This record gives sequence, structure tokens and C-alpha cells, in this order.
Amino acid sequence: MNKISKRKKEHLDICINENPTFNTKTNGFDKYDFVHCAVTEVDISTIDLVTDFFNHKIKIPFLISCMTGGTSEADNINAKLSEVASALQIPIGVGSQREMIDNSSNINSYGVIRKYAKNVPVMSNLGAAQVLQKSYLSKIQSLIDIVEASVFVIHLNPLQELFQKDGEVNFAGLLNSIESIVNKINIPVVVKEVGSGIDKNSAQKLLNVGVKGIDVAGAGGTSWSAVEMIRNKNIIDNYFWNWGLPTSYCIRTVNQLKMDYNFLLIASGGIKNGVDIAKSIALGADLTASARTILKTLVNDNIDGVIKLINSWMETLKKIMYLTNSASLDDLRTNKIQEKEKLI
Ligand SMILES: Cc1cc2nc3c(=O)[nH]c(=O)nc-3n(C[C@H](O)[C@H](O)[C@H](O)COP(=O)(O)O)c2cc1C
Repeated sequence: MNKISKRKKEHLDICINENPTFNTKTNGFDKYDFVHCAVTEVDISTIDLVTDFFNHKIKIPFLISCMTGGTSEADNINAKLSEVASALQIPIGVGSQREMIDNSSNINSYGVIRKYAKNVPVMSNLGAAQVLQKSYLSKIQSLIDIVEASVFVIHLNPLQELFQKDGEVNFAGLLNSIESIVNKINIPVVVKEVGSGIDKNSAQKLLNVGVKGIDVAGAGGTSWSAVEMIRNKNIIDNYFWNWGLPTSYCIRTVNQLKMDYNFLLIASGGIKNGVDIAKSIALGADLTASARTILKTLVNDNIDGVIKLINSWMETLKKIMYLTNSASLDDLRTNKIQEKEKLI
């Protein structure tokens, strides 16, 4: 097994069997509550959660975050996640496709996604460190083609690279490289973090170079410095284990850019129930996403378990919409949430 496949396998093992999550910080949603509306006029049975995802109509405001690919284990996981995406008619991301360029032997673990994910948007994925290498630019179209991607996702993971053995920590020229990709391909580019969050200032820089979607992937769920610390059996550095901006903060502040830019705002990072989803949307997100919680549920409860879980989250979302007099997702985005300390 080559170095990258081995690393991917270790990431999967740690995410499934260990607990690489923030322990001194939350996703921030616990600091908020909904404003109950005693005179709700919503009929819960007619609530429609259909959401626009780059001109695709998806049934619910949720997608499966980019996770894996490039190992034989990933074949099976990606096939099952694709079945979930297909059953729920939601978008699904593939894990970093670097391995496809560096070593074509595990190409099937990416292609399998399109085989099972019928009629749903699939997202290609590459990391910042690869985006920075000019030699990758000419190969990007092949990454898109193999999964017939509707969206190209670039992940920013400076914290992870810092704690990864042989991590790549020179990000000079990142924005120019992202702009080159935006100009080269004819599908929208989304930029995501992996658990440290994207702040308003960074989001604005990304939007200025033509990025069409921001997935904040904030702090509060999986910590990728934690994954690398566990992997490298390093001395645990609790400060950096917990580094990052809470997801709620990222959503609330990046949402302010909606006044001046047209983009899709995706809430992720520690999304683990329907309340987190409803709070994300109430703070301005267009849709929400989750990674490790979905992976763990898949491993424990298989495809049906994940479908059941996501459906239960949507039921919770509808209950909250009903109780806050929100007939539509747009209604939920207008003054339906408050900081808890103001509700006294
Ligand atoms: C096993 C695993 C592998 C991941 N690999 C990738 C990847 O290749 N590319 C990427 O953009 N994000 C990757 N992520 C990060 C997730 O997409 C997500 O941003 C992050 O885990 C935070 O979300 P969570 O708290 O719901 O897990 C991975 C996550 C997991 C759990």
C-alpha cells in the first residue's frame, strides 16, 4: 500500500474507532435558542424542504460531506454513501482525488460514487496543497469527468497539514491558484474547510476570486489536528486540538456577505442532529452537511440507519419550523433565533 492510501486508511480507522472531536469547544449552536411563536399559522404537513443546489432541486437542505476515496475500504463506503444520496436525492462529495492523479490503481473508489449515486449532484474534491501545484491544473478536468461532477470542491486544511507528518505548510499563492481553477473549469467551485471554519474575511477573498459556494466546516465536530495527533502518537497539544472558529460564528458572519455576493452558504462542522440543522438555517445557511456522524452511523447501522437518521433530522427541522411560524426555509431565516442570554 502506498503512503497516501495508508494515510487515508488510518484516517478512516481513527474517525471510526477513536474520538478525534473538539473537547473544550462546541459548534456554538448551544448558545442559541428559537423564538417560540404561540400564534403559529403553519400546517406542518405542508412544509416543503426543497432547496436549490446550483440549479439542481434537492429534496432537503442537506448533503453528505466529502470524505473518502483512494483506498480499497473507500470503495465500499462510497458505494453505500452513494446509495444513501440516491435514496434521499441529496448531493454527495468524494474525498480528495489526489490519489487518482498520483496513483491510478484506486480509481474505482471514486468512480463507484457515480455508479450508485443516480441523478444526484456529485462533488469532486482536491486539497489546497495540490491546488497550489501547477502540474495538477491540467488534470482537474479528469477528476471532474470520472464522477461527472456538478461542483468542484477545494478543501483548505492548514491546521491538519501543520500536524500531519510531512504535511505541506507552504500555502503561498493559494488565492491565485483557486482563481486559475475557477477560470479553467465550467462548473461552480465551492471552498470548504475541514473543521477549523472559514471567517467572513477569508470568505470575501474567496468570493472575490469567483468562488460560488462557501462550506464553513467550522469547529465543534471532527478535529483534524486531533486526527493527526492520534495518528502520529504525538504528545497531545490540547490548544491546537481545539483550534478553530465555531460553526455558528462562521455561518452568522459569512451570511452578512449575502448582501453583496451571490453564493451558496453551507453549514458544516459538528452537525449532529436536526436542531443543529435548524439553527444553521436560522443563522443564514442555505443548506447543511455532515461527515463523521454519517460515517459512524453507516458503519454501525448501514445504509438504512443513515437514511433513517437524516429523515429524523428533517422531522426535527419541520417541528422547529412549525413552532417558530416558519412556513418555508426562507421564513426560518428571518428572526427566528436568539442568543440564549437575551431570552431572559
Ligand atoms: C474519514 C473522513 C475523511 C475526510 N476526508 C476529506 C477529504 O478528503 N476532503 C475534504 O474536503 N474533507 C474531508 N473530510 C472532512 C469533512 O468533509 C468535514 O469537513 C469535517 O470532518 C468536519 O465535519 P464533521 O464535524 O461533520 O465531521 C473528511 C472527514 C472524514 C470523517
